[in-house]
Amino acid sequence: MIYYFTGTGNSLYVAQKLAGPGEQIRSIIDSLENNEHHVDLADGEALGFVFPVYFYTVSDPVLDFVRKMTVSGASYVYAVIVCGASIGPAGGFLRDELRKKGLTLSRVDPLVVPDGAVLFYNIDSPEQMHRQLLDADEKIGTIRSAIEERKPSSITGSAAAGKAMLASYHACMGTGKFHALDRCIGCGLCSTICPAHAIEMKDGRPVWTKKKCLKCCGCINRCPVSAIQYGKRTESRGRYVNPVLKG
Ligand SMILES: Cc1cc2nc3c(=O)[nH]c(=O)nc-3n(C[C@H](O)[C@H](O)[C@H](O)COP(=O)(O)O)c2cc1C
Repeated sequence: MIYYFTGTGNSLYVAQKLAGPGEQIRSIIDSLENNEHHVDLADGEALGFVFPVYFYTVSDPVLDFVRKMTVSGASYVYAVIVCGASIGPAGGFLRDELRKKGLTLSRVDPLVVPDGAVLFYNIDSPEQMHRQLLDADEKIGTIRSAIEERKPSSITGSAAAGKAMLASYHACMGTGKFHALDRCIGCGLCSTICPAHAIEMKDGRPVWTKKKCLKCCGCINRCPVSAIQYGKRTESRGRYVNPVLKG
Protein backbone atom coordinates (compact mmCIF):
# COMPACT_ATOMS: atom_id res chain seq x y z
CA MET A 1 0.00 0.00 0.00
CA ILE A 2 1.38 3.39 -0.99
CA TYR A 3 0.10 6.75 0.29
CA TYR A 4 1.07 9.84 -1.68
CA PHE A 5 0.64 13.58 -1.62
CA THR A 6 1.43 15.67 -4.69
CA GLY A 7 1.09 19.17 -6.11
CA THR A 8 2.82 18.94 -9.49
CA GLY A 9 2.57 15.19 -10.03
CA ASN A 10 6.06 13.93 -9.24
CA SER A 11 5.04 11.99 -6.15
CA LEU A 12 2.16 10.29 -7.94
CA TYR A 13 4.53 9.42 -10.79
CA VAL A 14 6.98 7.86 -8.32
CA ALA A 15 4.22 6.01 -6.43
CA GLN A 16 2.93 4.50 -9.68
CA LYS A 17 6.39 3.34 -10.66
CA LEU A 18 7.05 1.83 -7.22
CA ALA A 19 3.75 -0.02 -6.94
CA GLY A 20 3.84 -3.75 -7.44
CA PRO A 21 1.10 -5.60 -9.40
CA GLY A 22 -2.27 -4.98 -7.76
CA GLU A 23 -0.77 -2.79 -5.03
CA GLN A 24 -3.05 0.05 -3.95
CA ILE A 25 -2.00 3.69 -4.28
CA ARG A 26 -4.01 6.08 -2.13
CA SER A 27 -4.14 9.86 -2.05
CA ILE A 28 -3.41 11.31 1.39
CA ILE A 29 -5.69 14.27 0.66
CA ASP A 30 -8.61 12.00 -0.34
CA SER A 31 -8.02 9.77 2.67
CA LEU A 32 -8.12 12.76 5.02
CA GLU A 33 -11.21 14.24 3.37
CA ASN A 34 -13.08 10.94 3.49
CA ASN A 35 -11.98 10.23 7.06
CA GLU A 36 -10.32 7.05 5.86
CA HIS A 37 -7.54 6.78 8.38
CA HIS A 38 -7.36 3.05 8.80
CA VAL A 39 -4.63 1.22 6.92
CA ASP A 40 -5.28 -2.48 6.72
CA LEU A 41 -2.32 -4.35 5.29
CA ALA A 42 -2.10 -7.93 4.08
CA ASP A 43 0.40 -10.26 5.69
CA GLY A 44 3.90 -8.99 4.92
CA GLU A 45 2.64 -6.07 2.84
CA ALA A 46 4.82 -2.95 2.87
CA LEU A 47 3.51 0.49 3.74
CA GLY A 48 5.00 3.32 1.69
CA PHE A 49 4.75 7.11 1.76
CA VAL A 50 5.68 9.23 -1.24
CA PHE A 51 5.54 13.01 -0.95
CA PRO A 52 7.51 16.20 -1.64
CA VAL A 53 9.70 17.84 0.96
CA TYR A 54 8.56 21.39 1.75
CA PHE A 55 11.01 23.66 3.55
CA TYR A 56 13.13 20.63 4.43
CA THR A 57 10.28 19.14 6.40
CA VAL A 58 7.11 17.06 6.22
CA SER A 59 4.13 19.10 5.04
CA ASP A 60 0.88 19.42 6.98
CA PRO A 61 -1.30 16.92 5.12
CA VAL A 62 1.30 14.17 5.41
CA LEU A 63 1.82 14.89 9.11
CA ASP A 64 -1.91 15.12 9.67
CA PHE A 65 -2.49 11.75 8.04
CA VAL A 66 0.36 10.03 9.86
CA ARG A 67 -0.91 11.35 13.18
CA LYS A 68 -4.49 10.24 12.50
CA MET A 69 -3.90 6.86 10.87
CA THR A 70 -4.34 3.51 12.51
CA VAL A 71 -2.42 0.64 11.00
CA SER A 72 -2.84 -3.08 11.20
CA GLY A 73 -0.35 -5.55 9.84
CA ALA A 74 2.58 -3.30 8.89
CA SER A 75 5.88 -5.12 8.78
CA TYR A 76 8.01 -2.81 6.63
CA VAL A 77 7.49 0.94 6.33
CA TYR A 78 9.39 3.18 3.90
CA ALA A 79 9.25 6.67 2.45
CA VAL A 80 10.40 8.21 -0.80
CA ILE A 81 10.66 11.97 -0.35
CA VAL A 82 10.91 13.87 -3.63
CA CYS A 83 12.83 17.13 -3.72
CA GLY A 84 14.53 19.71 -5.88
CA ALA A 85 17.83 19.36 -4.07
CA SER A 86 17.73 18.07 -0.49
CA ILE A 87 15.21 16.72 2.03
CA GLY A 88 17.06 18.07 5.09
CA PRO A 89 15.83 16.47 8.32
CA ALA A 90 12.43 15.40 6.91
CA GLY A 91 13.30 11.69 7.14
CA GLY A 92 14.22 11.87 10.82
CA PHE A 93 11.08 13.86 11.55
CA LEU A 94 8.87 11.29 9.81
CA ARG A 95 10.66 8.43 11.60
CA ASP A 96 9.87 10.07 14.93
CA GLU A 97 6.21 10.65 14.07
CA LEU A 98 5.83 7.02 12.96
CA ARG A 99 7.55 5.79 16.08
CA LYS A 100 4.83 7.52 18.12
CA LYS A 101 2.38 5.27 16.25
CA GLY A 102 4.40 2.20 17.15
CA LEU A 103 5.76 1.91 13.61
CA THR A 104 9.38 1.56 12.54
CA LEU A 105 10.41 3.54 9.48
CA SER A 106 12.95 1.23 7.87
CA ARG A 107 13.90 3.19 4.79
CA VAL A 108 13.94 6.75 3.46
CA ASP A 109 15.06 7.61 -0.06
CA PRO A 110 15.44 11.23 -1.12
CA LEU A 111 14.74 11.54 -4.85
CA VAL A 112 15.64 14.58 -6.94
CA VAL A 113 12.96 15.29 -9.55
CA PRO A 114 12.15 18.25 -11.83
CA ASP A 115 11.12 21.05 -9.51
CA GLY A 116 8.08 23.22 -10.19
CA ALA A 117 8.30 25.42 -7.10
CA VAL A 118 7.89 28.51 -9.29
CA LEU A 119 6.71 30.68 -6.42
CA PHE A 120 10.32 30.67 -5.24
CA TYR A 121 12.50 30.27 -8.33
CA ASN A 122 12.35 29.48 -12.03
CA ILE A 123 12.16 25.96 -13.44
CA ASP A 124 15.15 24.34 -15.11
CA SER A 125 15.48 24.07 -18.89
CA PRO A 126 13.47 21.34 -20.67
CA GLU A 127 16.72 19.47 -21.35
CA GLN A 128 17.74 19.54 -17.68
CA MET A 129 14.29 18.41 -16.54
CA HIS A 130 14.27 15.59 -19.11
CA ARG A 131 17.63 14.41 -17.77
CA GLN A 132 16.42 14.71 -14.14
CA LEU A 133 13.40 12.54 -14.90
CA LEU A 134 15.57 9.91 -16.63
CA ASP A 135 17.94 9.90 -13.64
CA ALA A 136 14.95 9.65 -11.28
CA ASP A 137 13.57 6.69 -13.29
CA GLU A 138 16.84 4.86 -12.84
CA LYS A 139 16.90 5.57 -9.12
CA ILE A 140 13.25 4.51 -8.72
CA GLY A 141 14.22 1.10 -10.14
CA THR A 142 16.95 0.77 -7.52
CA ILE A 143 14.61 1.89 -4.72
CA ARG A 144 11.95 -0.55 -5.88
CA SER A 145 14.41 -3.45 -5.70
CA ALA A 146 15.52 -2.36 -2.22
CA ILE A 147 11.90 -2.22 -1.06
CA GLU A 148 11.15 -5.65 -2.54
CA GLU A 149 14.12 -7.02 -0.61
CA ARG A 150 12.92 -5.13 2.51
CA LYS A 151 16.29 -3.44 2.83
CA PRO A 152 16.76 -0.74 5.47
CA SER A 153 18.58 2.54 4.84
CA SER A 154 20.20 5.12 7.05
CA ILE A 155 17.78 7.89 7.98
CA THR A 156 19.30 11.26 8.70
CA GLY A 157 18.03 14.39 10.42
CA SER A 158 16.56 15.01 13.83
CA ALA A 159 12.87 15.25 14.56
CA ALA A 160 13.50 18.51 16.42
CA ALA A 161 15.12 20.08 13.35
CA GLY A 162 12.28 18.89 11.11
CA LYS A 163 9.70 20.23 13.52
CA ALA A 164 11.51 23.57 13.70
CA MET A 165 11.34 23.92 9.92
CA LEU A 166 7.56 23.75 10.06
CA ALA A 167 7.52 27.37 11.24
CA SER A 168 9.14 28.50 7.97
CA TYR A 169 6.64 26.50 5.96
CA HIS A 170 3.67 27.87 7.88
CA ALA A 171 4.98 31.41 7.46
CA CYS A 172 4.79 31.08 3.66
CA MET A 173 1.25 29.74 3.35
CA GLY A 174 -0.46 33.05 2.60
CA THR A 175 -2.54 33.20 -0.59
CA GLY A 176 -2.63 37.02 -0.84
CA LYS A 177 -0.33 37.24 -3.87
CA PHE A 178 -2.20 34.73 -6.06
CA HIS A 179 -4.24 36.15 -8.92
CA ALA A 180 -5.28 35.27 -12.46
CA LEU A 181 -4.43 37.33 -15.53
CA ASP A 182 -7.10 38.32 -18.09
CA ARG A 183 -6.16 35.37 -20.28
CA CYS A 184 -7.84 33.05 -17.72
CA ILE A 185 -10.37 30.94 -19.61
CA GLY A 186 -12.45 30.18 -16.51
CA CYS A 187 -12.02 26.41 -16.82
CA GLY A 188 -12.06 25.97 -13.03
CA LEU A 189 -9.25 23.40 -12.98
CA CYS A 190 -7.36 25.36 -10.30
CA SER A 191 -10.41 25.33 -8.05
CA THR A 192 -11.03 21.62 -8.62
CA ILE A 193 -7.49 20.48 -7.89
CA CYS A 194 -6.58 22.76 -4.95
CA PRO A 195 -5.97 20.34 -2.04
CA ALA A 196 -6.70 23.14 0.45
CA HIS A 197 -9.99 24.14 -1.25
CA ALA A 198 -8.66 27.68 -1.19
CA ILE A 199 -9.91 28.69 -4.66
CA GLU A 200 -13.51 29.43 -5.65
CA MET A 201 -14.74 30.36 -9.10
CA LYS A 202 -16.62 33.66 -9.03
CA ASP A 203 -17.96 35.16 -12.28
CA GLY A 204 -15.84 32.68 -14.19
CA ARG A 205 -12.58 33.66 -12.49
CA PRO A 206 -10.62 32.06 -9.65
CA VAL A 207 -10.70 33.84 -6.31
CA TRP A 208 -8.48 32.76 -3.41
CA THR A 209 -11.06 32.69 -0.64
CA LYS A 210 -8.86 31.19 2.06
CA LYS A 211 -6.00 33.13 3.62
CA LYS A 212 -3.73 30.09 3.57
CA CYS A 213 -3.05 27.13 1.29
CA LEU A 214 -0.50 24.32 1.15
CA LYS A 215 1.63 26.14 -1.45
CA CYS A 216 1.76 22.93 -3.46
CA CYS A 217 2.12 24.95 -6.68
CA GLY A 218 -0.49 22.79 -8.42
CA CYS A 219 -2.76 25.66 -9.49
CA ILE A 220 -0.01 27.84 -10.92
CA ASN A 221 1.69 25.02 -12.80
CA ARG A 222 -1.39 23.18 -14.06
CA CYS A 223 -3.33 26.21 -15.35
CA PRO A 224 -3.73 25.38 -19.08
CA VAL A 225 -3.03 28.98 -20.16
CA SER A 226 -0.52 29.94 -17.43
CA ALA A 227 -2.88 32.67 -16.27
CA ILE A 228 -2.24 32.15 -12.56
CA GLN A 229 0.50 34.28 -11.06
CA TYR A 230 2.00 34.89 -7.65
CA GLY A 231 2.74 38.58 -7.39
CA LYS A 232 4.77 39.74 -10.38
CA ARG A 233 7.65 37.31 -9.96
CA THR A 234 6.06 34.33 -11.72
CA GLU A 235 5.12 36.12 -14.95
CA SER A 236 8.55 35.48 -16.48
CA ARG A 237 8.94 32.00 -15.04
CA GLY A 238 8.15 28.71 -16.75
CA ARG A 239 5.73 26.07 -15.53
CA TYR A 240 6.22 22.38 -14.77
CA VAL A 241 3.78 19.50 -14.54
CA ASN A 242 4.86 15.88 -14.33
CA PRO A 243 3.61 13.91 -17.40
CA VAL A 244 1.44 11.77 -15.11
CA LEU A 245 -0.95 14.72 -14.63
CA LYS A 246 -1.05 15.80 -18.27
CA GLY A 247 -3.90 14.98 -20.58
C1 LIG B 1 6.35 24.97 -0.72
C2 LIG B 1 7.51 24.19 -1.29
C3 LIG B 1 8.67 24.01 -0.55
C4 LIG B 1 9.72 23.24 -1.06
N1 LIG B 1 10.83 23.02 -0.27
C5 LIG B 1 11.85 22.27 -0.76
C6 LIG B 1 12.99 21.99 0.05
O1 LIG B 1 13.08 22.37 1.22
N2 LIG B 1 14.00 21.28 -0.50
C7 LIG B 1 13.96 20.82 -1.78
O2 LIG B 1 14.91 20.20 -2.25
N3 LIG B 1 12.85 21.00 -2.55
C8 LIG B 1 11.81 21.73 -2.06
N4 LIG B 1 10.69 21.93 -2.82
C9 LIG B 1 10.63 21.30 -4.14
C10 LIG B 1 9.64 20.11 -4.15
O3 LIG B 1 10.03 19.12 -3.26
C11 LIG B 1 9.52 19.61 -5.58
O4 LIG B 1 8.96 20.64 -6.34
C12 LIG B 1 8.72 18.34 -5.70
O5 LIG B 1 9.04 17.72 -6.90
C13 LIG B 1 7.21 18.54 -5.70
O6 LIG B 1 6.60 17.28 -5.70
P1 LIG B 1 5.19 17.01 -6.35
O7 LIG B 1 5.36 17.16 -7.86
O8 LIG B 1 4.84 15.63 -5.98
O9 LIG B 1 4.26 18.04 -5.83
C14 LIG B 1 9.64 22.68 -2.35
C15 LIG B 1 8.47 22.90 -3.10
C16 LIG B 1 7.42 23.62 -2.59
C17 LIG B 1 6.19 23.79 -3.43
